[in-house]
Amino acid sequence: MVAKFEVVERNELKQKPDQDNLSFGIHFTDYMFTMDYSEELGWHNKKIVPYEDIPMSPASQVLHYGQAVFEGLKAYKTAAGAQLFRPNENFKRMNKSCERLEMPQLDVEEAVQALKQLISIEQDWIPTGEGQSLYIRPIMYANEPYLGVRPATSYKFLIILTPVGAYYGKGHLTPIKIFVEDEYVRAVRGGVGFAKAAGNYAASLIAQSRAEKLGYNQVLWLDGVEQSYIEEVGSMNIFFVFGNKLVTPQLNGSILPGITRKSILQLAAHLGYEVEERRIHIDEVVSAAKDGSLTEVFGAGTAVVISPVGEIKYKDEVVTIGSGNTGEVTQKLYDAYTSIQNGTSEDPFRWCLSV
Ligand code: COI
Repeated sequence: MVAKFEVVERNELKQKPDQDNLSFGIHFTDYMFTMDYSEELGWHNKKIVPYEDIPMSPASQVLHYGQAVFEGLKAYKTAAGAQLFRPNENFKRMNKSCERLEMPQLDVEEAVQALKQLISIEQDWIPTGEGQSLYIRPIMYANEPYLGVRPATSYKFLIILTPVGAYYGKGHLTPIKIFVEDEYVRAVRGGVGFAKAAGNYAASLIAQSRAEKLGYNQVLWLDGVEQSYIEEVGSMNIFFVFGNKLVTPQLNGSILPGITRKSILQLAAHLGYEVEERRIHIDEVVSAAKDGSLTEVFGAGTAVVISPVGEIKYKDEVVTIGSGNTGEVTQKLYDAYTSIQNGTSEDPFRWCLSV
C-alpha cells in the first residue's frame, strides 16, 4: 500500500506483551495516528507518530466541559493478511456523535486510509490467539484553552491501538451476571445516549461500581422516563432469545446504535432466525425467564463481541437464564460472527476490509 501520511519513526520499538495473558486495553502499540483541527486550517498536521503522552493545557475545554467522543473497532490477522471490521461504520457513527456535541466532522474515507496505514505499520501487534484481536480506539476531544462555555475552536483526533483478549477476563463465552439499575439512568431521549460520548461512560460508573460490589459484572440500563423498558448494558447492546426469535430494544435516541448490534441482526436473519427490534419491558424479561420462554440472553459490542448472560437481578428477583450457561443460539452466532471477523469463513456481507 502507498503510504499517504508522514510517519515519525520511534527510536526503539516496545516489547510486545505475552499473548497468553492479554486482557483489555492495558498495552499500547508503538505508533498512533494524530491530527489537529482549527477553525482556520480545518484538519491538519496529519501524521503517524510514536505512541506517547500528549501535552495539553490545563484549560483545555475537554477537561471542563467534556467535549470528547470515541469509537471502538478491531483488526484481525487472517491467512491473507490484516483486516478491519466495518471501519467506515465507526467513522460515520463518530461523525454523528460529533454533530451532537458540536465537534468537527471527519472525512470518513481519509480516516479509513489513516487507519489502514497505521494498521499496516503495526501488523505484528495483532494477536492471533483464540478470541484475540487488535482493538482500535479513535478519539476526538476539544483542546482549546478557554473557559467560556461554547463549542471549542480546536480539537485533536487520535487513533491508538491495543492488543486485546476477552473483555470480561474469563473468556468471551463465560456467562456474565447483570444487575438491572432502577435508581440511576444512563440517558434520556433528546440527550446524548445515542452518541459515543465519553461523558456517558462517566455517568454510568456509580451504578457499575455498586453492581460490582454486589457481585455483578455489568449494569442493565432501563429507559430514563418510565424506568421500565430495557435500553442497553454500558459496554454492549442486549439481545433476548425466545426460542427461534431474537429480540433487541429498538433504537430510540438514548440507546447506542451498536455496529455489532446491527451486524448481529443481519447475521441472525441470514442464519434463519426471526429478528425483532421493539420495546421490551423488564417485567416481560423476568417472567419469561421464570417460565422458560426466554431461553437465552446475550450482550453484543465490539469489545465484548458476544457475551452470554447467565443471571439477571432486578429489585428483589434473581433469575437464571436457561441453564445459566452459554445457549445454542448465542454459540452459533458467536461462531459465525467471529469466523467472518477473523477470516476463517466467507464474508457474505462484505464487512471486512483488507489492510
Ligand atoms: C466497544 O465495545 O468498543 C466500546 O466502546 C465499549 C466499551 C469498552 C466502552
